[in-house]
Amino acid sequence: MDITSFLRDNNLSTPFLVLSSIFFLLLVIKLAKPTSSKKLPPGPPGLPIIGNLHQLGRKPHISTAKFAREYGPLISFRLGKQILVVASSPEAAREILRTQDHLLSSRVVPAAFQQPSLIPHSLMWSDANLSWKSLKTLCRTELFSAKALESHSRLREQKLGHLLDFLHIKQGETINMEDVVFITLFNTLTSIIFSRDFLDLKDVHGTRDGLNESLHKIIEYGGNINDFGSFFPIFERFDLQGIRKETVKQYEKTFAYWEDIIEERRVHVNSPTWSSEHARSFLDRMLENKFSNNQIYQLVTEVLVAGTNTTTSLVGWAMTELVRHKEVMSKIAEEIKREVNTDKISDSQLSKLTYLHATIKEALRLHPPVPLLLPHKATETCEVLNYTIPKNSIIFVNLWAMGRDPKVWDDPLSFKPERFIDSKLDFKGQDFELLPFGSGRRICPGMPSGIKSVQLILASVIREFDLVLPNDADPMKLI
Ligand code: HEM
Ligand SMILES: *[C@@H]1O[C@H](CO)[C@@H](O)[C@H](O)[C@H]1NC(C)=O
Ligand SMILES: *[C@@H]1O[C@H](CO)[C@@H](O)[C@H](O)[C@H]1NC(C)=O
Ligand SMILES: *[C@@H]1O[C@H](CO)[C@@H](O)[C@H](O)[C@H]1NC(C)=O
Ligand SMILES: *[C@@H]1O[C@H](CO)[C@@H](O)[C@H](O)[C@H]1NC(C)=O
Repeated sequence: MDITSFLRDNNLSTPFLVLSSIFFLLLVIKLAKPTSSKKLPPGPPGLPIIGNLHQLGRKPHISTAKFAREYGPLISFRLGKQILVVASSPEAAREILRTQDHLLSSRVVPAAFQQPSLIPHSLMWSDANLSWKSLKTLCRTELFSAKALESHSRLREQKLGHLLDFLHIKQGETINMEDVVFITLFNTLTSIIFSRDFLDLKDVHGTRDGLNESLHKIIEYGGNINDFGSFFPIFERFDLQGIRKETVKQYEKTFAYWEDIIEERRVHVNSPTWSSEHARSFLDRMLENKFSNNQIYQLVTEVLVAGTNTTTSLVGWAMTELVRHKEVMSKIAEEIKREVNTDKISDSQLSKLTYLHATIKEALRLHPPVPLLLPHKATETCEVLNYTIPKNSIIFVNLWAMGRDPKVWDDPLSFKPERFIDSKLDFKGQDFELLPFGSGRRICPGMPSGIKSVQLILASVIREFDLVLPNDADPMKLI
């Protein structure tokens, strides 16, 4: 018996026909849907299971820049089951950070930081939701607003003064500028937060206590986005290198430094005679807002980690380029001589140092301290440049590649602050070829504070010292 007679005999033909035409209809609809909306961005072919892990290497901003040269400004690849997307052109960056910003502003939490007691209080690693918004508002008013910056200027100057005094004592000796700049920035931030210094210029390697070491380890374990391996489900479950356990250990060591101060101030803030005018630090504000210790630990660690490593790296690169380009250094020195005639450099004088400012932009173009931004995550499937970005993809923007792209910049590998003179191009998130702080919802909230520190440190050091390399080392050999 063939199938038709079976159906006829059993009187099943009508429903079968209906069913099959529904099936046919579904098929037609499915086929008719434009295939372009289903297409992932192109990218290098991967291996089964590990995907492209073996191709990333230790500097993913460089390896993904190579992929981009081959596959275009929007690429995708896999690590395990995880899809990653990297944008490397201003157009792609604009689509991600502006047009689709509302769908692409969540985060993926590095394995090291996946701690249920901390993530809900995170500014850096939480999704862009209500609790994140209110944290951001508090930080904006108390730490990053123009008014807050103004009220911190005395502390900033004081720490800068300590740095300059220290350098005068050490004049002629070899100094690791990154170390002393780090200490200066760190003490500035902890003074704003806790009204206290924690590091000592005279004890550069922090042998006295391990706070610097713990924070560096925290950055290394989790803040280091180069550690792609830590993001991915296939690795997460195992905590392969014991990263999470080690991070918890360093967190606990770090928090121990702050516990007593927090408890002491909590007593003040909770006392019946307390009034807001008595607040003298960011800690007092957090306590007024009824923050728990865990909330305070998390926010403070993030601000310190985000604020010191990035700013130090920028000062370090700017100084390196100045040593390489003596003519740039002399131009800045002349500008300072022309515009600054007082002992301390005031804000209004700083704003006149246009060549210094152009130099900072140029250093940010070639040496973005966060070369891929922090990882963004797609909360919904969406389209970017006519490609599909599936829900839960991890998205990076390759600032390093854009800064060195001849399609974006003339003579991209030369250090030429002049390119920013008489140019409106700025790093505030409006010009998508220069995004060292990101753009959109996740833009770095610390930008004004970071830039101000960099301007003040560079201007003061150039004004008072000659920067030279030890033993006439060849500046072009610095990497
Ligand atoms: C030259 C200095 C700095 C650079 C280049 C820089 C750059 C960045 C970048 C690229 C991001 C990620 C943006 C994104 O994922 O789209 C970021 C986030 C962040 N930065 Fe900065 N930053 C600097 C200084 C600072 C300072 C001084 C602070 C605080 C005192 C700070 C606090 C933060 C925080 C809290 C976030 C997370 C924001 C969020 O996820 O919503 N940064 N920064
Ligand atoms: C915001 O997102 C974080 C995780 O990213 C979560 O822990 C927190 O509870 C969320 N807050 C709100 C108000 O939804
Ligand atoms: C802090 O610790 C790191 C890593 O242990 C070290 O490389 C750096 O020189 C230290 N910096 C300061 C300022 O002590
Ligand atoms: C910032 O952190 C990264 C990752 O640990 C490290 O490689 C780099 O040397 C640090 N930079 C500075 C200036 O501390
Ligand atoms: C996307 O596709 C539309 C319609 O096919 C086309 O008009 C547009 O130019 C494309 N955009 C890009 C960036 O390729």
